[in-house]
Order: sequence, then structure tokens, then C-alpha cells
Amino acid sequence: MSSDLLSALRAITGDGGVLTEAADLEPYVTDWRGMFHGRALCVALPRTTQEVSAVVRACAAAGVPVVPQGGNTGLSGGATPDASGRQVVLCLKRMNAIRAIDVAGETMEVEAGCVLQTAQQAARARALLLPVSLAAEGSACVGGIVATNAGGTNVLRYGMARARVLGLEVVLADGTVVEGLRALRKDNAGYDWKQWFIGTEGTLGVVTAAILQLAPLPRHTVTAWLALPSPEAAIAVLRAARQELGDALSGFELMSGEAIARVEQHLGLRSPLPAAPWFVLLEASASLGGLREAAEAVLARSLEAGDATDCVLAESGQQAAALWKLRECITEAEARTGKSMKHDVSVPVSAIPAFLAAADPAVAAAFPGVRINAFGHAGDGNIHYNVILAPGTDTAALNVLVHDLVVRHGGSISAEHGLGQYRVDEALRTRHAAETDLARRIKRALDPGGVLNPGKVLPQ
Ligand code: FAD
Ligand code: MLT
Ligand code: ZN
Repeated sequence: MSSDLLSALRAITGDGGVLTEAADLEPYVTDWRGMFHGRALCVALPRTTQEVSAVVRACAAAGVPVVPQGGNTGLSGGATPDASGRQVVLCLKRMNAIRAIDVAGETMEVEAGCVLQTAQQAARARALLLPVSLAAEGSACVGGIVATNAGGTNVLRYGMARARVLGLEVVLADGTVVEGLRALRKDNAGYDWKQWFIGTEGTLGVVTAAILQLAPLPRHTVTAWLALPSPEAAIAVLRAARQELGDALSGFELMSGEAIARVEQHLGLRSPLPAAPWFVLLEASASLGGLREAAEAVLARSLEAGDATDCVLAESGQQAAALWKLRECITEAEARTGKSMKHDVSVPVSAIPAFLAAADPAVAAAFPGVRINAFGHAGDGNIHYNVILAPGTDTAALNVLVHDLVVRHGGSISAEHGLGQYRVDEALRTRHAAETDLARRIKRALDPGGVLNPGKVLPQ
């Protein structure tokens, strides 16, 4: 049976389209963090939408589940197959064309396997901005970005990936191709079905291409690094920044002093300011002038109020990039420090200080020896409350403690990384039963045979 399927997949995908050797499979069956390990019957690498459709149809006919995969940078195990060795990893990497850029319309049509950074560079070359940005952008693919509704570092101004998606082409669980590649800002002709495939982590369909809304490339950017005494001070700085910079404010990242110390220790980078309890990286961009004066006003107000104890404003693109590198290397430094449990949580922005004030002592008291790595997109209310484990830490109890506090503060247990296989149980525990039931009904309607990424987002 499986050799019949392998022959069929080889015939569909042509040369190099099916991998079966253990060494070839390895990069596709383990996640970026090395936390989830699976096995796979094979990795299929289709080159066209028609090939994706034929692969899914063949797998469905054989009763073999399909696990879609892009850059395999997801942090929730959504792209990792289970341990059965029966599943087929459907990797979109060979479908990586940028099909078209409409400069006047500020849109881009791009295939799912295109690396985000490649798409960003293509937009930039036409004086346009693809404003989805995250530390994994050199590997994450457009299909993965759409399927996870990725967030990142400029959601504050430009929204999550969902806000960029104007049109989609998807392959359903029975192989049907649904073509919705319309570059329209306004399209109320029936259900906005593309939303069913954004952020649903490959459980309802395979994204093969997208039309993305671009933005004008801002002419001016200001980037500042501030040292702060507390999360309360960060919220006050955010308020000042919103008042002075308005919607030009595109990034507001909060980082604990410990998180930055780990980056310095493990990656040899240096913060431009001495050690402090907290740091903020703030960025604003605009095409009209006055940005620097407004940013200086934010810094002056914050220093005067004692919300910032020290600050620097980048004097060049190179300096700004060095500040971003400190922020973007936090995940890498965390991985080098030890095994961690990631809590990708969001709470209302104004509740961030109360959440941290409640969580820090509770975690320290219940789990001696752990180290908290707190940082994130504070302007969006998104804190990565990651906990570096001590030997023997009861990780299930740790998750329950943190997530209960999140719920108590009106938050979500996944702001941007999704549920994958990592958070399925906790989502079941913390969401309303009617929400889970609704999700199940949608899954049953679109994938009655359970072909697409079973066990992810919802229990199998
Ligand atoms: P994969 O990891 O391959 O897949 C992720 C999920 O999407 C899986 O469920 C998979 O089945 C599904 N999928 C992939 N492609 C398709 C497709 N074509 N059709 C249907 N389903 C598909 N995420 C953020 O949101 N914000 C951040 O700031 C952020 N920072 C990160 C920093 C680092 C260092 C790393 C390693 C990761 C970070 N991530 C972040 C997580 C990750 O980069 C994103 O989730 C990204 O969107 C995943 O893209 P990918 O192509 O690697 O997807
Ligand atoms: C980031 O913002 O750098 C990642 O989403 C956070 C993480 O690695 O937990
Ligand atoms: Zn993040």
C-alpha cells in the first residue's frame, strides 16, 4: 500500500520530488527547537498547485495524513509529523515564485514556498514594504506565515499576517483547488472564506499562493533603545510614544534585563546601555518629516518622568540594525541557555505589569531553579513568558500556572505562535467549550476524513 502511494507521489512530483532516506527526512521531521520529533513515510516536494492537489488527492485516497510544511520555523510543533511513520510531509519549498508585483496597486502575488525575506526584498526593490517581520524571516515561508497568522515586530502599525492577505489559492482535503487570487481591498461577494485558512495551521487546507497587500516604503525611520526600571514604566513610555508619534509607531518591544544579558553572554553582542531591569526597543517610520523631533520628545518626556533611566537614538541604519539584532537574538540565546517552555501569551496592554507582577513570584515559588525569559511585542500586549527549566520541573503544572494567570488577566494562551501540537490540551482547558465545538464542526465540514494535519490545533 505505502509503496503504491510512494510510486504515485513520485509520478506526480517528478525528479527529486519525494524523499524517503532517513538522513534526507531528518530536517523535516524535527522542529526548529528540537523539541518535537516525528517520523514520516516521505517528504513530498511538489512544484505546482496542480501537483499539490494531486499529492493531497493521492494521500486522501490512501487514507494517509498530510502535514503541510514551509520553512519549519514554527514554535508549536505544527509542522512536525507524528511518530507513526505513516504521515506524508508536504513541503512547499519548491513552489517559491514571486508571480507578480503590482506597484500601483501595492500588491504582490507569491507562492507559498517563497521565503519571507525574499518576498520582502522583492517588494523593497520596487520601493514597497512587505510589513511582516520576524526573527525567522530568513527561513519562514509565505505559506507558513499565512497558515500561522504570524505576528512579529511591526504588528502595532501594520497588523498580523491576516491584515496583509487579500487573496488566497488553497488546496482542500479532497484535492480541490480553490482559486481566490483577487487583489481586492473590498470584496463582500459572499463568505470571506480565505479567513478559514489563515491561522489554522494547515488543518483545513494547503495554502499554495497568496496575494499580499504591501505598503509604501517609509522614507524615514527612527529607532531608540531605552533602559527602564519596570514594566509599568514601559507602559507609560508606550503611552508617550503613541501621543508623540501616533500611528508612525511601528514597533515597541519590551525585554527583561536578563534576556539581554543572555544575548550578551551567548552571542557576544553588546547592549549600548549598561545593565538595567528592563529595556525597550522602539521604532517609528513615516514618509513625511518630523519623526526625529517626535522621537526625541518621547525620550525627553520619558527621562523626565523617570520612566526611562537612560536611552540612545540610533544615528544610522547600521546602529538601528545592531539594536534589532540584540532583540532578535533573544530566542537563539534562550535556546543556548537550556530547555524552555514557551508561553506565547497576550493580555490587554494595560494588564502587562499586573500579569508580570503576579506571574514572576508565583513561578519562582512553585518551580525553584527555573529562570524566566520575559520579552515580547509589548505594544501588542504580547509577552513571550518563556521559562528556562530546572532539572525535574513539572512542565504541565508550570503551563497550568502561567495560563491560569493569563486567563485571569483577560488574555490568550497563544498570541502569535498558534497551538500546533504544543498547546492543544491547554487550549481545550482554557477556551470555552462552545468555541472548541465550533472549531470541530468547521474541521469536520472541510476535512471529514481527517487528512490534513490531524492532531494539530484540535485533539485527534
Ligand atoms: P512551518 O514551521 O513550516 O509551519 C508552521 C505551521 O503552518 C504548521 O502547522 C504547518 O503545518 C503550517 N503550514 C506551513 N505551510 C503551510 C501551507 N503552505 N499551507 C498550510 N499550512 C501550512 N512567529 C511569530 O508569529 N512572530 C514572531 O516574532 C516569531 N519569531 C520567531 C523567531 C524565531 C527565531 C523562530 C525560530 C520562530 C519565530 N516565530 C515567530 C515562529 C515562526 O517563524 C512562524 O510561526 C512562521 O510563520 C512559520 O513559518 P514556516 O514557513 O516556518 O512554517
Ligand atoms: C520572538 O518574538 O522573537 C519569538 O516569537 C519569541 C520566542 O521565541 O518565544
Ligand atoms: Zn514573537
